[in-house]
Parts: sequence; C-alpha cells; structure tokens
Amino acid sequence: MTETRLLQQTKNAPDEVLRTLITSSDATRPLAKAADEVRRAVYGTDVYIRALIEISNICKNDCYYCGIRCANREVERYRLTKEQILSCCEQAYHLGFRTFVMQGGEDPFFTTPMMCDIVSEIRETYPECAITLSLGEKSKEEYKALYEAGANRYLLRHETANAGHYGKLHPENLTLENRKRCLYDLKDIGFQVGAGFMVGSPFQTTENLVEDLRFLQELDPDMIGIGPFLPHHEIPFASYPKGDLETTLRLLSVLRLMFPHALLPATTALGTLHPQGRVLGLKAGANVVMPNVSPMEKRKLYALYENKIGTDAESAEGLALLKAEVSEAGYRIVEEAGHVKR
Ligand code: 5AD
Repeated sequence: MTETRLLQQTKNAPDEVLRTLITSSDATRPLAKAADEVRRAVYGTDVYIRALIEISNICKNDCYYCGIRCANREVERYRLTKEQILSCCEQAYHLGFRTFVMQGGEDPFFTTPMMCDIVSEIRETYPECAITLSLGEKSKEEYKALYEAGANRYLLRHETANAGHYGKLHPENLTLENRKRCLYDLKDIGFQVGAGFMVGSPFQTTENLVEDLRFLQELDPDMIGIGPFLPHHEIPFASYPKGDLETTLRLLSVLRLMFPHALLPATTALGTLHPQGRVLGLKAGANVVMPNVSPMEKRKLYALYENKIGTDAESAEGLALLKAEVSEAGYRIVEEAGHVKR
C-alpha cells in the first residue's frame, strides 16, 4: 500500500479498517512511514519542546491507575511554592524553552485565584511564551479566569471515550460526561486543547480504542497525548500488564494520519516503556517532547507509574543530549512556542 493511499484510507477509514491498523504488526512500519511523511509536510523536521513543571503531587482524586491517587498513603507529598515555579520557568527559558507546562494533581491548595496570580506573573515576564495548564477538572468560570490570566493551552486527557470503561478506571464521582464537558468548555473559551488516553489500560478493548479515535474526531483537539499504561505497585491495577510498545506506535501514526496538524508528544511513559521509546515515537509521527524541569529532588515523588524516566533536560548538558538524540533520528529541536499549525 502506498503512503498516500494509507493516508487517505486512514482519514476516512471505517471502524473495521481502524481495528486492523491498530492491531496488526504488519501495519507498524508502513503506518510510521506514512505518518512521517505527513508530519514532514506540516511541521518539517521541527520538534517542539515543552518545559514540564510538576507543581504538586497532591490529588483529591482516586483514579485506579494512577500512582498519586489520594488513597496511596505511601507517597511523600509535595507542592512547589510560587517562587519555585517561577524559578523553574526562568531556568527553562534560559535553556531555550518557550512553553511552560504546569501539571499537577487536583490539589485544592492551588485555588484558581492563586493559579491566576502565578499565570499572570509568568505571562508578564514571558509575553512570547505559551503557558499550558494540566490541572484537571474545573468549572467553566475557573477555566475562563485562567485563560484571562494568560494561559493559552490546557491538557486534559479524556482517558477513554467509553463510559463503561471510564467507570472501570475511576471511582463513581468521576464521569466521562463531566470530562467531556470540561474539554468542550476549554475549547469554547479559546484554549488550545489537548485530550488523550492510555494505551493498554486495564479492560481496554480494540473497540474502545476506535471509540477514542471517533471521540477525538468529534472534539478535534490541537494536542493529543497518548502513552502506554504502566503499572505502579501501590495502585489497584498493580498486577495488570503494561501497554504494548508497537500498539502505541501504531496509534501515534494513525493519529498523525487522522490529525495531520495535531501536536503529538512522544510521552515520558513511552520513553519509560522502551529505551528508544521517545525516538520511536517521533519516527512514528510525534512532534513534541516534554522534558521535566521540576526541581530534581521532587521528580521521583511525581510517580504516576513505576520507574518513570528522568529526561534531565533541565541542565544545558541534558538538553544537549536530547538535541543530539533527536537530530540522530533526523529531526531538530526548535526554540519556539510551537503553536498548532492549522
Ligand atoms: N500509566 C501510564 N499513564 C498514566 N497516567 C496516569 N497514571 C498512569 C499510569 N499508571 C496518565 C493519565 C493522565 C496523565 C497525566 O498520565 O492518562 O491523564
């Protein structure tokens, strides 16, 4: 099958074809080739870097798959101060980052007025930079306040687009309906929105993955984050197997073909699953990497899953290594905010 045909076929594929593409190992290479072609047509060889600042590992939610769920009493909890967050941004800026991502558990301590204060200070200091938030579910009014304070992107994975499956991954107080409401509110406000899901999460079927793709087509997000499910010994899903590398790569390629303009990260989870995971992700269609720039001593505490890799690009040497790895793969890290190209 030629690349062009694969592109056309994937974009308009019926469920049956999507199921085959997702599951067959024969498809991995041709899909990656076609996805890379599409990615080069839209983004060239550019790879965008995002400075990931994990502001708090305190979370009021109890998601069964997540290592920082509130029921896990074994994690040492932390939250960064405003000064620590601003200092992470400053260091990241000097290294060449032009997007700051503030991610955290749903920590009630960080009220919306507090976050607005932090966001507006970053906005004033770095007017040309993008500010991304990944702080979970909030009311539309809260999202609006954060947007008005200067945030321009929001990451909130939908996790699974099947309500029954959603119910198996989350306690009753969390619903797919509210998750979708949040995503549509964010979009309506004007945020560049990121959704996404885990590959190989417990009870996930191929049909569920097709439903994820269909939901994404409906939402039409700017960013799509996917990565393999990875177990953590203190979660209810401790004994479930990890997500599959090739399936994740095929899904990345399918996403690139279905959403040529999307910002697709080669995620930390993918890099944790396989030593070449991130580069393989880039070659399969991803165009974003999100190195961790949180204070070194806090990083191991933000453990959503086990053995999370450190990307260590907080130092000039670490970033130089990442740049070398990316250029070895045939791409180039650029120092830009890296907005979506629609
Ligand atoms: N394995 C892989 N990804 C996970 N996430 C949470 N827990 C895990 C895990 N055990 C993902 C979720 C969440 C994102 C921040 O990390 O998809 O939205």
